Amino acid sequence: MEIGATDTPRLDWTGDTLAVSFLEDAVELTGDLAELDEKLGGILKELIEETEFKGSVGSSAVTRVGSGSSIRKIILVGLGKADNLSLDSLRRTGSAIARLAKQQKSKTLAISLPVVNDDPAGTAQVITEGLLLALHLDNRFKSDPEDKGAKLEQVELLGLGSQETAITKAQQICDGVILARELVAAPANEVTPISLAQTAESIASEYGLSLEILEKEDCEKLGMGSFLGVAQASDLPPKFIHLTYKPQDTPRRKLGIIGKGLTFDSGGLNIKGAGSGIETMKIDMGGAAATLGAAKAIAQLKPDTEVHFISAATENMISGRALHPGDILTASNGKTIEVNNTDAEGRLTLADALVFAEKLELDAIVDLATLTGACVVALGNDIGGLWSADEALATQLKAAAEAGGEKFWQMPLEEKYFEGLKSPIADMKNTGPRAGGSITAALFLKQFIKETPWAHLDIAGPVWSDKENGCNNSGATGFPVRTLVNWVLS
Ligand code: BES
Ligand code: MN
Ligand code: ZN
Repeated sequence: MEIGATDTPRLDWTGDTLAVSFLEDAVELTGDLAELDEKLGGILKELIEETEFKGSVGSSAVTRVGSGSSIRKIILVGLGKADNLSLDSLRRTGSAIARLAKQQKSKTLAISLPVVNDDPAGTAQVITEGLLLALHLDNRFKSDPEDKGAKLEQVELLGLGSQETAITKAQQICDGVILARELVAAPANEVTPISLAQTAESIASEYGLSLEILEKEDCEKLGMGSFLGVAQASDLPPKFIHLTYKPQDTPRRKLGIIGKGLTFDSGGLNIKGAGSGIETMKIDMGGAAATLGAAKAIAQLKPDTEVHFISAATENMISGRALHPGDILTASNGKTIEVNNTDAEGRLTLADALVFAEKLELDAIVDLATLTGACVVALGNDIGGLWSADEALATQLKAAAEAGGEKFWQMPLEEKYFEGLKSPIADMKNTGPRAGGSITAALFLKQFIKETPWAHLDIAGPVWSDKENGCNNSGATGFPVRTLVNWVLS
């Protein structure tokens, strides 16, 4: 599918389907729309009346146009109230139009939407993102898919001629989101620590990034006892992935992105029981997926910032070699951990990844992880949790998320709750009481960062959506690739 931009007036556009929009309670056929209605024999007016189309957000109406016209179908979409019109709402409108055009089997589509915030580049970018994200279809595991995908061959954004750069930027970002979605959606017999390392290798060779894969022995030498403790029951080798993007010139800043990479989380000997969602635990590498997705986008966008993409990838399994609940592990910073629950494994892998990242002397580190069910209880499936002691970093991330249309809510790093992680025998336990479980998880991670500005993102809820939701189709969402990319570009 080709996406282009043109300044052809909508009255003159010829092709399959034309999509036009209206603000709520401002559905009037004036100016060029009156002309269009006349040209189409009054069909616009009829459609609006018959469907009682009011322009409310998310509403739409579609009709076929009489044969002999310059277009075949017309789509009306509602933008809602003018005050609520934003780049993010326009992104969702782009998705809505894409879904309607797919239903209508349109081959060519022209989209006429208003320029928001006097920002034609931003407008073209979000519409393109909305289109690409809604039309992404993952049929990899179907032998005879019912849904064969959209028939769209050509999309033109009207009134946005010369915004080709913004369209390309959106395509590069969506490349990253789609990679993350496909990594999360693939089951644990498909995406393994080995295949994750191979994905990093493909990105490195395709875009000229440097890649270091630490094997188990390398991790042993670095004293990564916490990560390796989690990995020890798996028949698959752990892979510590370190992918680096370096700009041509001296970097303006150096950033680290660390993703939890549990390709399957059985819980270990604290095995996940019936009703725990164990069969969904292929998603537990959602952090690593978004990290690699961001790498794929960044590698194409080529910002002036150096970025280190890191994941300590493994599975959390059971076998005769499994961690015993109560085992004591020593992380690479020398801290000892009493593993009172083998199902709190993500933080154990992140501990060594954080220590590794801090040695790189970066300006800031962000980790992202499907870390706790407690965060899902607190914030639901649409909102990720954000923890940071560095307000400047938290502010940057919130702005990046907002611009990407991804939601985060800042949570407290309440030091007092670290009492819940005190161990009588080691430096700390890996889990505390049930109450405040996502906060103690963040406080645990904090023990492995000394001074680098650091933020933790708990993405356990939003990495997956059971139903179509905004720009997301049901399934893996690719959350929060857009936030990460915007943060690096900021
Ligand atoms: N991977 C899970 C968290 C999770 C839960 C992700 C639901 C996605 C959806 C994590 O490793 C885990 O098992 N966490 C435990 C921690 C507990 C043992 C302190 C949890 O949240 O129950
Ligand atoms: Mn777990
Ligand atoms: Zn987990």
